[in-house]
Amino acid sequence: MTFSFARPTFTSPVNEESARIRSSIASAALFHSLSIDAVEDLAQRASIRRVPAHGTIVTQDEPGDAMFLIIAGRVKVGIFGENGREVTLSLLRPGQCFGEMSLFDGKERSANCIATEPTTLVVLHRQDLMQHISRHPTTALNLLGEMAARLRRADESIAQLALCDVNERLVHRLVSLAEEEGTPAAEGILVRRRPTQQELANMIGSCRETISRAFNQLARDGMIIARGRSLVVTNALMAKSSRAAAC
Ligand code: CMP
Repeated sequence: MTFSFARPTFTSPVNEESARIRSSIASAALFHSLSIDAVEDLAQRASIRRVPAHGTIVTQDEPGDAMFLIIAGRVKVGIFGENGREVTLSLLRPGQCFGEMSLFDGKERSANCIATEPTTLVVLHRQDLMQHISRHPTTALNLLGEMAARLRRADESIAQLALCDVNERLVHRLVSLAEEEGTPAAEGILVRRRPTQQELANMIGSCRETISRAFNQLARDGMIIARGRSLVVTNALMAKSSRAAAC
């Protein structure tokens, strides 16, 4: 009697990791409209790095030698003042990139980048990125687009700091959070991970006590609904913010 066994199919960890790198690159906005060849070229040059929650990925003022694409987790980009106060420049999500500025201007890292939860990254070293760009210039155009979008957001923040009071800045920030990562709910838009009041203060250049007062007033006015770790930004607040777009 002969027995026949189905041959088990093994996916080695190395193959799994390459497949993950390839699909993350192919779906990231930064690498959109790249040819299959270009995606393959990048994927072969990239590696994966895992960072625990609160781990520092990039330290301000250090030389930069790599850029990163977030596959999972979240990264806070921020600057510490000499008095120890922190300004949060951005909170980055899967699909977003960081760490490219020092690769292009050759200067030190412009900010700290810290994982706020366990985070997985695709890492691309400077030399690999430059070699890739010399063969696939579309990647350079995409990077320019990304930097232009970031400059626009920075311009908006500067304008808000100059033109809006802290209540208005808080409203803008909450509405942006709802637009960026919220999901529709009965009363408005649900933000699952509500930032702490200190985090909101760091994002809009204020202090926790002021944010606490402004936040509680919005809650009393029924404009936001805090629910445990989540927050509903009501339709009324969304409408109010779009009417007062320029403060
Ligand atoms: P680099 O200067 O190499 O290291 C820090 C990174 O933080 C920087 O590249 C950018 O990718 C990112 N970064 C700096 N400023 C901002 C900002 N205002 N918004 C989003 N990301 C930023």
